[in-house]
Amino acid sequence: MSTAPTPLPEPHQVSINLGERSYAIQIGAGLLDVALDRCNLPPSSDALVVTNTTVAPLYAQKLIQAIGKNHERIHTVQLPDGEVHKNWETLNLIFDALLQNGCDRKTVIYALGGGVVGDMSGFAAASYMRGVPFVQVPTTLLAQVDSSVGGKTAINHPLGKNMIGAFYQPQLVVCDLSTLSTLPAREVSAGLAEVIKYGPIADMAFFDWIEANIGRLLARDPGALVHAVKRSCEIKAEVVGQDEREGGVRAILNFGHTFGHAIEAGLGFGQWLHGEAVGCGMVMAATLSQRLGLVEEAFVARLTRLVERAGLPIRGPALGAQRYLDLMRVDKKAEAGEIKFVVIDRPGHAVVRGAPDDLVVSVLDDCCDQPLSN
Ligand code: NAD
Ligand code: GLY
Repeated sequence: MSTAPTPLPEPHQVSINLGERSYAIQIGAGLLDVALDRCNLPPSSDALVVTNTTVAPLYAQKLIQAIGKNHERIHTVQLPDGEVHKNWETLNLIFDALLQNGCDRKTVIYALGGGVVGDMSGFAAASYMRGVPFVQVPTTLLAQVDSSVGGKTAINHPLGKNMIGAFYQPQLVVCDLSTLSTLPAREVSAGLAEVIKYGPIADMAFFDWIEANIGRLLARDPGALVHAVKRSCEIKAEVVGQDEREGGVRAILNFGHTFGHAIEAGLGFGQWLHGEAVGCGMVMAATLSQRLGLVEEAFVARLTRLVERAGLPIRGPALGAQRYLDLMRVDKKAEAGEIKFVVIDRPGHAVVRGAPDDLVVSVLDDCCDQPLSN
């Protein structure tokens, strides 16, 4: 008996409008269960699927089947898993695989995994033969709502987070929500940090919705996930469409990240998840906004409560105030040694500005575990 082919689930599509670099973000459950040939995959004989040792056994075969009609040869490379491996040595494994398999400048790189795989694959795609086509297939919530969209690619340097990289847009993003079923709960919470971020900076109605649906999101309710991913991608696409290379408004997407990156680098990459550091960093940045007289204490309390309900830390580690300041001066937004923060100037709107060191230290004193010591 012949079985009818499974129909492609009707995905939601969000477009990111960047002229000739425009592309679609496909969002739906089960997208990798069927051929992706209706998604305008870039044509090429060779493809390289870049993934890691955790994601490969779960989804590499699915992806290879889904893109099988589009390429004659599909190679794979499995990177070691973890933020601690987001470095030159691991990046070089991608170049090794491209060269060893004779990949030419039309070879499509598929990034299958979370933000670490996505950021490194994108950087490899930006630089291999001065640029090859690139498709993001994000499998973490954080990557689906943020890192796979917008073309920021990077590796870490021991002295600073994401310090070496390039702006390089993918040609397509495929968010299969079904992949989130295997994600550890801690990673779901980490992804929720970037979802929550979009509320204070751009859309308080979305913030209200997250507050009302945080239980469904933590339980991975498909309807809640699809709305969270879609609305997050819409907001990010809107911001990136206005300012692709972060000359201005795009910086608001880094709400919580100045403090957060300092936590990640200060503790050693991988100790706290990126989303955990961002969650706590948002509490600090909101507190700074309040001390600058921009928002009410009640707003800070509301955000703190939501971050906590999402399962994220709300108090920073005791790195020492001077260490925090030193680490934050390595941030990409810093100008001539002056640290810049994304602050909320009214709920639903953010701006970038500096702040006196003593005010920042007072925020660290109140938001970090003690003893913070100088
Ligand atoms: P990650 O890539 O380390 O993935 C988290 C963990 O989940 C890893 O162990 C991974 O192997 C595992 N995993 C991935 N998919 C899985 C699945 N479906 N089932 C089970 N396990 C799975 O972390 P992340 O949170 O996805 O990304 C964080 C990175 O993204 C950071 O390096 C951060 O700097 C970067 N980032 C980049 C941007 C950007 O705009 N480019 C934005 C935000 C964050
Ligand atoms: N995650 C911040 C940005 O993409 O600009």
